[in-house]
Amino acid sequence: MKAIIIAIDGPAAAGKGTLAVALAQHLGLPHLDTGLLYRAVGRLMLDEGRDCAGDDASDIAARLAPSDLKRTDLRLPEVDRAASLVAAQPAVRAALLQRQRDFAATHGAVMDGRDIGTAVFPHADIKLFVTASARARAVRRYQQYHDRDPSPAALSQLEAEIEARDHIDSARHVSPLQRAEDAILIETDDLTPDQVLARALDIVARHP
Ligand code: C5P
Repeated sequence: MKAIIIAIDGPAAAGKGTLAVALAQHLGLPHLDTGLLYRAVGRLMLDEGRDCAGDDASDIAARLAPSDLKRTDLRLPEVDRAASLVAAQPAVRAALLQRQRDFAATHGAVMDGRDIGTAVFPHADIKLFVTASARARAVRRYQQYHDRDPSPAALSQLEAEIEARDHIDSARHVSPLQRAEDAILIETDDLTPDQVLARALDIVARHP
């Protein structure tokens, strides 16, 4: 595969991470889950007892080490929220921008996040916007964490948390979550991961 850049954006738990991993593997491209960068910054802010909403986190963003991205405690609910809060800080986004561009510079990449097709790689070869209803995403997120079906109360709470995070991500001033005009929409509510991959591969195959 030549060094192309595939940008995959969308809200939390829509299936973009699963798609990105599978697509990268199929096409032999490097993969970067850019959410991990924001999660690592949020995690380190929590560790240092700093306020993710009020304190400038750009110093942490500037000195993130590869080992910070490999921590096993980046997918906890408190980190979900911390990541969204630091991601709304313009200086944090600026500090992480070049790093994301450098990642794809030599071999291309499949990159998933919120602003890849709009801000990080506005000229990406292929842009996909992967989404699903808040309810479907809540079910998936619950099953990811617990490996079983959610109770109605747990589901409602998770759905509310997901909607709150969607709101922070979509309402922020800098690089909000939004579909790039030229991104191809994939709605995953009624699709299995294999069907989502098949659709994406079809899009890639038709790319000139
Ligand atoms: O994708 P994930 O849920 O791991 O991302 C965590 C948070 O990082 C998101 O809620 C979002 O606020 C932020 N993020 C972002 N831009 C990206 C990737 C993630 O703002 N490209």
